[in-house]
Amino acid sequence: MTKDLLEFKRDKVLVEGLLKEFNAVIEVPGDKSISHRAVMLGSLADGKSYVSNLSLSRDNLATVAAFRKLGVDIKKQNLNGSPKDFLIEGAGLYGLKEPESIINTANSGTLTRLLAGILAGNDFFSVISGDKYLNFRPMRRIIEPLGLMGAKIAGRDKNTYPPLAIFGGGLKSIFYEVPVPSAQVKSCIMLAALFAEGGTVIYEKKATRDHTENLLKLQGYPVRVEIPSAGGSLITVKGRDAGGLNPFNIKIPGDFSSAAFFIAFGILNKGSEITIKNILVNEKRIGLLKVLEMMGADLNLTITDTVPETVGDIKAKYSALKGITVPPEAVPDMIDEFPILSVVASFADGKTTVTGAKELRVKESDRIKAIVYNLKAIGVDIKELEDGFEINGDPDLKNVGNLTVLNSFGDHRIAMSMIIAGLILKNAKIEIRGIRCINTSFPEFFDTVSGLINR
Ligand code: S3P
Repeated sequence: MTKDLLEFKRDKVLVEGLLKEFNAVIEVPGDKSISHRAVMLGSLADGKSYVSNLSLSRDNLATVAAFRKLGVDIKKQNLNGSPKDFLIEGAGLYGLKEPESIINTANSGTLTRLLAGILAGNDFFSVISGDKYLNFRPMRRIIEPLGLMGAKIAGRDKNTYPPLAIFGGGLKSIFYEVPVPSAQVKSCIMLAALFAEGGTVIYEKKATRDHTENLLKLQGYPVRVEIPSAGGSLITVKGRDAGGLNPFNIKIPGDFSSAAFFIAFGILNKGSEITIKNILVNEKRIGLLKVLEMMGADLNLTITDTVPETVGDIKAKYSALKGITVPPEAVPDMIDEFPILSVVASFADGKTTVTGAKELRVKESDRIKAIVYNLKAIGVDIKELEDGFEINGDPDLKNVGNLTVLNSFGDHRIAMSMIIAGLILKNAKIEIRGIRCINTSFPEFFDTVSGLINR
C-alpha cells in the first residue's frame, strides 16, 4: 500500500491521493526551538543538566556538535533505551573554549543567531557558517544590536549574511526595540546580555515565542517580562553580576510545528480523526489552531502540563472548511505554519487571505514564492502578494496533469506541506523533488505518514 502512495527515488518522492480514512493516536519529535535552547543553556549552566526527548533533527544535532566544539561535554544518556536523552556537563558562563575551526550551523537560523549572541559575550575569536541556504539569511538584524553592545562582529556582503566572524567580549547593556517580530533576534540579545555589564532591556511590539525567557527562569536567572500599556513585551535581563545559571532537568514536549502537518492531514482527509499527544502548546506557538478554528476545523485541546511550558494533546477531526482572512496580528504566533496553512486553504471553500507576513520571504526559502509556485502547479487558484498570498480554495480540487513536479526549494516545511497536499488531492500523481531537507526538523516524518496510510 505504501508503495502505491509514496514511492521514493533518491531525493524525490512520488505521492498519490490517499482516499482512505484513518483514526490514530501519534506523537511527534521534541520541539526544535526548545531543543536548541536546552543544549545552549545547559552548556552554560554550572553543573549537570538532563535533557530527555531532544529533537534529533539535523538542526538540533548541529547545536550539539557546536557546543561540543566549544569544549562542552554532551553525552547520550540512553537510560531508558531512548537515543533522545542527553547529559550535559555545563561549562558555566565563562567555561567555553575558543573553537579551533569554523562552527557549522547547518540550515539553522536559530542556531546561527542565538550562538552569535553567546559567542559575542566570550573573549575569543570564532567563525560560524551554515549550508548554502543558511548563508543567504539576513544577519544584519543581529549584527546591529550586538554591535551596539560593543561586539566586534562582521558578516559577508557588508554585514548582510553568514559566515560571521566574531571577536567577543567586553559587552555593555543596551535598551533595544526589536524592529522585526523575531524570537531569534530577541533571544540572541538576551543571551549576549548574560555577559554584559548592567541590565539589558528589550522591547518587542508583538511578543514572540518566549522559550528563552522560560528556560532562563527555570535556571533561576533574573529575567523580568512585563506587558507595557502599549502592548507587546518588555524583557529585562540582568547582566554578568547576576551570577550563574542553575542546571536543570527537562523533558522536551513534542513540536507543534511538526504536529501541524498531521493536524492538517486529519482535518482534510475525509472521515479521519487524529490525536497528537504531548505537544508544546505555548500561546505564542499555536496561532494555527485559532486560525483553523476560524475556518471551521473540529479541534480539541487537552492541557496536560504547564511548567516550564504548557503541554497538551490535540485532537483533530475531518471538517468542512471555509476560507478566511488571517488576522495579521496572528502571524508571529504561527510564523512556521504558513506552508501547511496554504495547503489547508487550498481545500477550503472560498477565499483565504494572508497579509503582514513579509518575514516568510527570509525563512529557509522565500516561502511566499515556494508556496505560490507549488500550489499553482497542482491547479490551485493562488495570487502572490508582497507580504502574503490569496487563495481561492476548492474542496474538490483535482490534480491537473499526468504527473506534476513540485520543488521543495531546499525547505523542509515546503516539502512536508506538499506531501500532505499530494495525499489529499484527488487523482494526485505528484513528484516532490528535494525531500532530504525534511531531516532538518523531522527525520521521523515519513515513518509517521506511513503509519497512517498503511492502517
Ligand atoms: C524560532 C523563531 C522563528 C521561527 C524559527 C524558530 C526560534 O524565527 O521561524 O523556526 O526558535 O526562536 P524568527 O525569530 O526569525 O521569526
